[in-house]
Amino acid sequence: MRQQHLPGILPPEHVVNVASVKQRSPFRYPGGKTWLVPTIRQWLLSLPPHRRKEFVEPFAGGAIVGLSVAFEQLATHVTLVELDEQVAAVWKAIITEDQGEWLANQITSLDFCTETVETLLRSQPASLPEQALQTIVRNRINRGGILAPGAGRAKHGEKGRGIASRWYPMTLSRRILDIVAIRDRLSFIHGDGLRIIHQLASRQDTVFFIDPPYTASANHPGKRLYTHSTIDHAQLFDLTSEIAGDFLMTYNFDEAIAATAEAHHLEWHVVVMKNTHHAHKREMIIGRNLAWLR
Ligand SMILES: C[S@@+](CC[C@H](N)C(=O)[O-])C[C@H]1O[C@@H](n2cnc3c(N)ncnc32)[C@H](O)[C@@H]1O
Repeated sequence: MRQQHLPGILPPEHVVNVASVKQRSPFRYPGGKTWLVPTIRQWLLSLPPHRRKEFVEPFAGGAIVGLSVAFEQLATHVTLVELDEQVAAVWKAIITEDQGEWLANQITSLDFCTETVETLLRSQPASLPEQALQTIVRNRINRGGILAPGAGRAKHGEKGRGIASRWYPMTLSRRILDIVAIRDRLSFIHGDGLRIIHQLASRQDTVFFIDPPYTASANHPGKRLYTHSTIDHAQLFDLTSEIAGDFLMTYNFDEAIAATAEAHHLEWHVVVMKNTHHAHKREMIIGRNLAWLR
């Protein structure tokens, strides 16, 4: 994806260099925020270290932002929160239960043919790490990486290679083992991001990166992308006023969200993403004070 900014909204020197982002996540995640990582760096480095000891990502998904923060030590510790059980299985297996090595070994030894994959996806996982493996396989072969019920399969894959075209076992295993190596900087909570924001909001040394499912917009793209796509956006905005430290939110551009942000005395900027099909997608960055962006 190439990123552009709407003229007059963000100056050109803030165009993000996405090539500077190392892909750390074992997921290809719908609505993933790889493109935002350089902006997150800029935001966190504008804060003194004592204000960014803890970094919380309450809607973690593929967690490229939280992982990048942990790898680059932009915060002392990172807490990822996710409600989706399939996604949570991966983070729990790697971070909480220290099963990352097992998972990495399974990935490299899997015979990735249609029959094995079908059997694996139909099976009832007997353990958490097995569920994690199932999630990773499903995430690779479903169209757009979508894990929600009803997601279609990518039919012909890349360059006609069929089912194996998105299966890069060595890369996936390396990413998982790299995360294992920094496990002590990470925590994972399988739960409701709104509740965790409320619980941690009073901490002055804690920052939040809030990337909720986009069901506030009129066309509701989040509905088909995520199993859990409905959250109370008004409550989320209200919660941000409890945050003693700092936070940054992202949304698909939406007039109603812009009005809600303004009603909460928040600043917002629009970023235009241009994807490989040259379709434009407008995203918003929302925060209390975005002076560091100028
Ligand atoms: C826009 S995606 C996050 C993408 C992520 N920033 C990334 O780069 O991969 C929103 C995520 O919120 C999760 N979610 C939905 N409702 C939630 C809730 N109440 N608490 C925690 N996570 C939730 C969805 O499952 C989805 O993974």
